[in-house]
Amino acid sequence: MAKYFDTSDSGISIIQSEETLLPEYMPDELKHRETELQFIADSIKPLLVKKTPLNLFIHGSSGSGKTTCIKYIIKELSEHSSSVLPVYVNCWGNPTQMSVYNRIIEEMRLPLPRRGLATDEIFDRILQYARNYKKPILIVLDEMDGLRHDKLLYVIARANEQKLTFGILGISNNKSLLSRLDSRIRSSLRFSELEFKPYSEEQLLSILRIRAERSLVPQAYDDRLLLKIVRSVEDNSARVAIERLWKAAKKAEKQGASKIMLQDVEDILSQEPSFKISELNLSSEEMLIVDILKSGEMKSTDLYEKFIQKSPKTKRQIRNYLELLENKGIVESKEVAGDGLLKPRIFWLNKGGSNV
Ligand SMILES: Nc1ncnc2c1ncn2[C@@H]1O[C@H](COP(=O)(O)OP(=O)(O)OP(=O)(O)O)[C@@H](O)[C@H]1O
Ligand SMILES: [Mg+2]
Repeated sequence: MAKYFDTSDSGISIIQSEETLLPEYMPDELKHRETELQFIADSIKPLLVKKTPLNLFIHGSSGSGKTTCIKYIIKELSEHSSSVLPVYVNCWGNPTQMSVYNRIIEEMRLPLPRRGLATDEIFDRILQYARNYKKPILIVLDEMDGLRHDKLLYVIARANEQKLTFGILGISNNKSLLSRLDSRIRSSLRFSELEFKPYSEEQLLSILRIRAERSLVPQAYDDRLLLKIVRSVEDNSARVAIERLWKAAKKAEKQGASKIMLQDVEDILSQEPSFKISELNLSSEEMLIVDILKSGEMKSTDLYEKFIQKSPKTKRQIRNYLELLENKGIVESKEVAGDGLLKPRIFWLNKGGSNV
């Protein structure tokens, strides 16, 4: 019997709703972010009556709920009114002016001629639509540091000077991003700022408790377990806490246990990649990066492109692998001059790495 592929489970289940623990899940209640949600809504509100909105720049550490809150607000906005068109763009996935325009066109459900249109022709179509239907567009630029140029913001600022058409909501982990924007763009778009402070331990515990209630059978966990997970997490990231709860639950379930034990948490922590690994014990993803860099130094954007061709991973994941390799002393990097929002980095193998 093919035992390694056996999918039958032990019959005992700990997880009653796995989707609730997955990253795509949209919580129906966002605790501890009332003030931030209201602030975002208030910034957008003027757009509903065709007045100038407060363009907003949101920053804060990873896992502090920025993306989730924005998606929640977009959903509320769409339910409340159709007089604004919200467009959510993840800039790491859509780093060029054209790809952002394409996202807007997608939301507008505009048919485009088969012969491709030039970038400014597409932008003209967008303007035409917004002005004909008197519908301002709220562009949400999540992970805004992924944008390759600030040309997009420049074009939008220029268009708004003639007639208000766009509201901009930028999001990033990098607080200094705004100060790196061209001063003309900054003075024209006049962003206000909103910081998402990291959750406190108690706040994170209460978020995790709600998630556990929705996803696990009640006997499978207790507060001691949740607290252990919360305390294991750096920067009190809700993402990491929820992911660890999910992994620990899967592990316990696989072992046929009816309860997740503190040891399960210890075990999953020890299985996570750790900077302590001093042997060149590389994962296949890290090896892939090393292979790519064997041809010589490379800009981050080119490296991501090459990596994604071989292995479909998110840029965040690739950044994590790069960070691991840097911590192991195999890869080195430095910032170089560039015209983007953030200076690009170049990466190369150091001597230790080239022997791998
Ligand atoms: N207040 C909250 N209530 C419930 N769940 C939350 C809350 N804040 C965050 N989460 C959950 O934590 C996870 C991470 O949140 P999110 O992706 O919004 O973080 P982020 O600030 O955008 O992080 P990054 O900067 O890495 O993109 C999501 O799965 C989300 O559902
Ligand atoms: Mg996010």
